[in-house]
Amino acid sequence: MKMTNRWNRIIYRLWSPVYDKTVGRFFLPGRRRALEILELKPGERLLLVGAGTGADLALLPEGVDIIGVDLSPEMLARARSKLPLPGRSVTFIQGDAQRLLVEQAAFDAVVFNLILSVIPDGRACLHENLRALKPGGRAVVFDKFAPETGYIPIGRRILNIFSTIFGTDITRKFGDMLRDSGAEVVWQEASIFRGKYQIFLLKKRNK
Ligand SMILES: C[S@@+](CC[C@H](N)C(=O)[O-])C[C@H]1O[C@@H](n2cnc3c(N)ncnc32)[C@H](O)[C@@H]1O
Repeated sequence: MKMTNRWNRIIYRLWSPVYDKTVGRFFLPGRRRALEILELKPGERLLLVGAGTGADLALLPEGVDIIGVDLSPEMLARARSKLPLPGRSVTFIQGDAQRLLVEQAAFDAVVFNLILSVIPDGRACLHENLRALKPGGRAVVFDKFAPETGYIPIGRRILNIFSTIFGTDITRKFGDMLRDSGAEVVWQEASIFRGKYQIFLLKKRNK
């Protein structure tokens, strides 16, 4: 099954009341580490792509100016319920992050936590939202991807039928998405679930 916005709207409406107490908890160590690697500083502008229930918000340092984008009104309603956050300015935009919904070249950092395996076209999402970065800006990706080399094994393809029903695709390769994006990997590490989830720190080239 292919991920679609229609299905994502349905499945994330269903996830929204239980997300923070279930999967949200499971992902906490990974997202904490991803944001640590990003090394945000006060005064920086940050774009959260697929902001969801705002599980990243409490982990962001004071003084950061945050814009979060998400397709699901119900997930965003949960995120809004976490506001106000002392010392942080937070704005949400509801929309499809397969295209850029914010100003181009205006952000210091972008977070792609658990979105590139969910959104229908992960490559478009990555490329479009990297346009938001200033030259030399940085982005972090925390997600699970298929191994870069070889075919996707049949077992993984079968499992993917079920995982897409629950709102995530496990057959995507990060290298395919990153190609020609104008950014490069400057740090990579294995994360939770015995390294099945990974963290990538990207830097946008200065042209
Ligand atoms: C697995 S959740 C991750 C949420 C959050 N980033 C986190 O780390 O907890 C995936 C999110 O992607 C959002 N999403 C799915 N399709 C989208 C799209 N086309 N544009 C923007 N957000 C989308 C869903 O609504 C959901 O909130």
